[in-house]
Amino acid sequence: LHVAVLFGGKSVEHEISINSARNIFEFIDRSRFEVSLIGISRTGGWYLKKEVNADISSGEPLRLNMSGSRKGFMRLNNEILPIDVVFPVLHGTDGEDGSIQGLLTSFEITFVGTGVLGSAMSMSKLYTKRLLEASGIPVSKFLTYSFEDRSSIRFDHIEKNLGLPFMIKAANLGSSVGVFKVKEKKGFEAIVDEVFKFDHTLLFEEFVEGRELECAVMGNRDVKASLPGEVVVSSDYEFYTYEAKYLDPEAAKIVVPADIPEDIAEKIRQHSIKTYKTLHCEDFARVDLFLKKDGTILINEINTIPGFTNSSMFPMMWKERGISFQDLISQLIELAME
Ligand code: DAL
Ligand code: MG
Repeated sequence: LHVAVLFGGKSVEHEISINSARNIFEFIDRSRFEVSLIGISRTGGWYLKKEVNADISSGEPLRLNMSGSRKGFMRLNNEILPIDVVFPVLHGTDGEDGSIQGLLTSFEITFVGTGVLGSAMSMSKLYTKRLLEASGIPVSKFLTYSFEDRSSIRFDHIEKNLGLPFMIKAANLGSSVGVFKVKEKKGFEAIVDEVFKFDHTLLFEEFVEGRELECAVMGNRDVKASLPGEVVVSSDYEFYTYEAKYLDPEAAKIVVPADIPEDIAEKIRQHSIKTYKTLHCEDFARVDLFLKKDGTILINEINTIPGFTNSSMFPMMWKERGISFQDLISQLIELAME
């Protein structure tokens, strides 16, 4: 079976994708899969690569081929690259939001992960919350504004509804890019303007005082959830920021499985599976949530292409369930081929 691993991409999570893809390329079972690496540069060029590195455009340019019996990728010498399945290891805009999924769908290329609708809904923190709320899944309180409403955003109104501190988030980004915690009125307007540089839609959320947990979900007809894991973020950080996630190895401790009562873990697993199904997820995803002191669970978001970096919890949670990194990749490819 010939697998193409797609990595890099135009999003602000370009580097994270490279780190995820490096692990997948290293651990994929070579006795079962032939692997091609396709890097997407920051400007959106596609290149056939021999290794996963940051210098993507040093590869051989690839074209998409829509004509003929074999749709897919075409090399410089007009040879078709014979792909059976694509594994998009792309995070964020243009990779995880349904755009690449739409491209692959229209080229009739089988791919790992969620399709167009589920990807788009899950990428949007706003539509995720609206849909979960409508399905009776608990989420934190929120308000939303689009850029046209910029002049009606009032600190006092938001404070009255959500309390202090509160969070401001770009609606469609990942890895905590475009996420800020607001503790006072001072500097508020500047943060709002800053986040609007990232996104047309803003989300204001109550700040949830609680433990930060994640739960891995996998499957289609038969959907299963891992035991939850916990991220314990050092008190040097106000929340689980980009820096705490990827740049400061001391910033967060990952505990798998999380030390929580069995009944709460079970409830989290059920909520996570329901979240996954509500958002039309396929093959796999990771649900991020909060657990408050009083036992309340609030679903924060779902990631349809969760990280596979050394500090990412999705593979760790399956490892705890007895699935090695190598078997996990094989199972995800099998799910896509079903
Ligand atoms: N968006 C990053 C990659 C994650 O959720 O793991
Ligand atoms: Mg998250």
